[in-house]
This record gives sequence, C-alpha cells and structure tokens, in this order.
Amino acid sequence: MPILHAVMEDMGYVDPAAIPILAEELNLSRADVHGVVTFYHDFRQTPPGRTTVRICRAEACQAVGGRTLEERAKTRLGVGFGETTDDGAVSLEQVFCFGNCAIGPTVQVDERLYGRVSPEQLDHLLEVTA
Ligand code: FES
Repeated sequence: MPILHAVMEDMGYVDPAAIPILAEELNLSRADVHGVVTFYHDFRQTPPGRTTVRICRAEACQAVGGRTLEERAKTRLGVGFGETTDDGAVSLEQVFCFGNCAIGPTVQVDERLYGRVSPEQLDHLLEVTA
C-alpha cells in the first residue's frame, strides 16, 4: 500500500502497465497488486484531470443533499465517478466521508474542502474548474 500511494503521489495514477513491474519488485503476484489497485477507490488507473472534484457519498452528507450534488455534478460534467471530462479538465471522484460530517454536504476541489455546499455553489465550483 505505501508503495502504491507513493506511485499515486508521484504520477497521479497507477498505470496498469506498471502492475507487473510492481508485482515482481514486491515479490507478489500480478493478481495481488491488481486486486489492491482495483479494490480501493483512491487508486486511479488513468491520468487525473487538471482539477479533481470529490463528492462525499457517506450517509451524513447524503442526508443533507449529497445525492442531489452527485447527480448535478455528473450531469454538468457529463462523466461518472472515476471518470475525467473529455478535455481533461475535471476528474469526478467519490469519497466516503471527509470527517466534515457536521457541515455537509461536503465537496473537495483539489485540496480545498467546502462544507454545506448547495447545488448553486456546486455549479459555481464546477464553472471555476472548467
Ligand atoms: S459523511 Fe460526508 S464528510 Fe462525513
């Protein structure tokens, strides 16, 4: 896991072509490494967009409007979770709790966290990133 996180930190994603190399270096099977990369949502297998928008999908945020934000972001960007817009501008990701539950729904744009995000605020955040 720490090595995969280091690859993510350095490259922004884990290139599937690197999995056999990582497996050999770590003395693991390709299936073991592939399994970890595909199981955890944090490990991307494609290059990220220039901006990453993450929406909390955990219960506390969903109870205060998170689902509306999810659908709005997907519709406006034309992508689903784990995907990047065709122009490479924005990647949309799902997160299951940022620890910001008291002021949900929570959205993160790159490293900045936003709480109590309304649909209109989400529109503004998406316009700024596009
Ligand atoms: S449930 Fe969304 S930040 Fe915790």
